[in-house]
Amino acid sequence: PRADALVFFGATGDLAYKQIFPALQGLVRRGTLTVPVIGVAKSGWTLDDLRARARDSLASHGGVDEAAFATLSGLLRYIDGDYADPETFTRLRAELGAAEHPMHYLAIPPSLFGTVTQHLAASGCAQGARIVVEKPFGHDLASARALNETIHQVFPESSVYRIDHYLGKEAVQNMLYLRFANRLFEPLLNREHVQGIQITMAEAFGVAGRGHFYEETGAIRDVVQNHMLQVVALLMMEAPSHPGQEAIRDSAAQLLKSVRSLTPQDVVRGQMTDYHAEPGVAPGSTVETYAAARFHVDSWRWAGVPVDVRVGKELPVTCTAVTVTFRAPPLTPFGPAPAANALHLQLTPGVQVTLDVNTKRPGAGLSGEAAQLVLHQQAWDGMAPYERLLGDALAGDATLFAREDEVEEAWRIVDAVLTPTPPLPYAPGTWGPAAADALLGADGPWINPVPD
Ligand code: BG6
Repeated sequence: PRADALVFFGATGDLAYKQIFPALQGLVRRGTLTVPVIGVAKSGWTLDDLRARARDSLASHGGVDEAAFATLSGLLRYIDGDYADPETFTRLRAELGAAEHPMHYLAIPPSLFGTVTQHLAASGCAQGARIVVEKPFGHDLASARALNETIHQVFPESSVYRIDHYLGKEAVQNMLYLRFANRLFEPLLNREHVQGIQITMAEAFGVAGRGHFYEETGAIRDVVQNHMLQVVALLMMEAPSHPGQEAIRDSAAQLLKSVRSLTPQDVVRGQMTDYHAEPGVAPGSTVETYAAARFHVDSWRWAGVPVDVRVGKELPVTCTAVTVTFRAPPLTPFGPAPAANALHLQLTPGVQVTLDVNTKRPGAGLSGEAAQLVLHQQAWDGMAPYERLLGDALAGDATLFAREDEVEEAWRIVDAVLTPTPPLPYAPGTWGPAAADALLGADGPWINPVPD
């Protein structure tokens, strides 16, 4: 059923400011948010303070739409209270009124999930409710399992929505659509035809004031365990057997199950040389700001195809792109082809899909030149991921949320490489430690994305 109230814990926090208010305004504009929006936090604020904060947030993230803001303001409620105090939840229960299917969005640290879910249950607020939780979902496999157990004491899996905002990206969904809405790609996406797969998530900025957070996280936990492995799953999974959320999540989980657990030999960890200058970073910290990893997918379809993933802060560009490189033709009667066929999917910024092909060079003789087919290009990034995901969660559609088994499989894959070993230094503005090239061997070099 559609949720009939939206409660968000952490209403005065950073995520609310950067993502949630803009998403809520977007939903109001679309006409899909008409239910009370109850912010909860302990900041000593009033409802007017929260409204002012919302306006501020919108002004600095895409602009205030006065009509939509007026509607949103009218839907807003605020409860100031401690998450450990039962009284906060008694007031929340009263504020929920006749709502039968509230959605509780926990935009708070996972260490508070247990406290909040227990109080939601004890106060009756969990009745008929669903819960939306933010990443990081755990710190390793053991803590992710413990977190799932904690949540499941109150909410069954069918009422749990784990956000991975990459799944809300237009380009990520386009990747999925492109695969299964065309006859053209599927017959080629397998070990017979694919030489290798590369994914690079490059960011030209650093940890951007989040030193404390990053110290607890590092690149592998921050973006490989979740965003990158979700992209791997959607790119390489089997076709969902039927429409509907569970079929897609079954396929994705199945693919992740066939990904071999990483060992230290599969990974190169890097740290930008100015990392220690960040506030909140411990002297001598060995947290990685860069990671390159080779994954092996032990499935009938993909056995032996290297899947190389690289992520990093302070790289030369901000761009996430996937490249699927195809094998050479079996015979080359006209001499070697100028370039391998490759399918490039740019996931950020914007949507871009291109195909590298070879064509004949005009004029005498049969020699070729490389050409590029632009299949799809869209500067506009679609609906903002948070707007799409919150809208889906309100509507009760969990397709784009990570299921328990997916999250645990993803942690299982990275679990053995989470312990920090001294990372290799790299200078800001470079493509990371040179040792990452050795990881690829004859499958190299890394393909550096160029944002379009
Ligand atoms: C977040 C990470 O999940 O994703 C950040 O915590 C990262 O470190 C961000 O910068 C990237 O997302 P996007 O949508 O800006 O590419």
